[in-house]
Amino acid sequence: MATPNYSASSPVTAGPKRNSVGVRIWHWINSGLVLFQLMTILFLFVVLKVKGLAPDFSKRLAEKGINMAPDQLRGLSSVVAHRIWDWHIWAGILISILLAYRVVVSFRQRGSQRTAAKIAHLQAQAAQGDTAAKKGVLVRYSYRVFYVVLAVMVLTGLILVFEDYFRSIEHLCKEIHEVTMYAVIAFVVAHIFGVFRAEVTDAPGIVSGMINGGKPAEQA
Ligand code: HEM
Ligand code: HEM
Repeated sequence: MATPNYSASSPVTAGPKRNSVGVRIWHWINSGLVLFQLMTILFLFVVLKVKGLAPDFSKRLAEKGINMAPDQLRGLSSVVAHRIWDWHIWAGILISILLAYRVVVSFRQRGSQRTAAKIAHLQAQAAQGDTAAKKGVLVRYSYRVFYVVLAVMVLTGLILVFEDYFRSIEHLCKEIHEVTMYAVIAFVVAHIFGVFRAEVTDAPGIVSGMINGGKPAEQA
């Protein structure tokens, strides 16, 4: 994370703030929901291991003298899975609406708030030999890649929600949705690590800038 010195304690003077209200609202709601989606997967496949519940139920019942094969108990464990999937689907629909909102925000941002302007500003600094700015350009491009990853997640997720209409590509979408999750995890881990590192090294105030908007980009 390389954009130097946009300390939140400095007074905001002229020009639009670095991060528009729209981007800030989108950022925090979206990050909460993406983390929530990852939690649903963690609970389904790691914490509860829903697929292994039926054999466990069967063993416990056998201890009490009730003999029911795991297959007869699958219905019970799928109740648990369905409850978690319902939350995943509703959070997914919210993420989809938010992505559409992010597109609207990108058209409403002013001057230096626009991603293209931020990249141009960093590129100009990098051309003068600023190595932190060079890294900053890469970070900005990584955000663009993340938006594409998120769009793939949303598109394949929505196809899975309406799978009845997309039977022929349902399986393919499931695979893509699953594999893309690893890109989401990689981004989230690198991003949170990068933001914390930037906060304590070359960009103090970067996190509060995503809360209060930060200084105008030209002064950063
Ligand atoms: C699932 C979790 C997260 C996702 C998906 C995410 C995604 C993003 C994206 C796409 C941007 C670029 C916004 C833009 O300018 O278009 C961004 C910027 C930013 N995020 Fe996150 N974020 C997450 C979590 C966090 C957390 C936990 C923090 C703080 C600790 C954080 C702090 C920031 C900051 C400070 C920026 C601005 C960086 C800059 O201006 O270069 N993010 N985030
Ligand atoms: C961005 C974070 C997201 C992550 C990490 C994520 C992860 C996953 C994973 C790993 C699966 C299991 C796929 C499989 O069974 O092979 C899944 C299923 C699914 N996801 Fe997502 N997803 C995300 C976003 C979304 C979005 C935006 C939607 C759109 C509404 C969505 C809708 C679904 C649906 C409908 C299923 C199938 C549920 C079922 O089998 O009953 N997901 N997701």
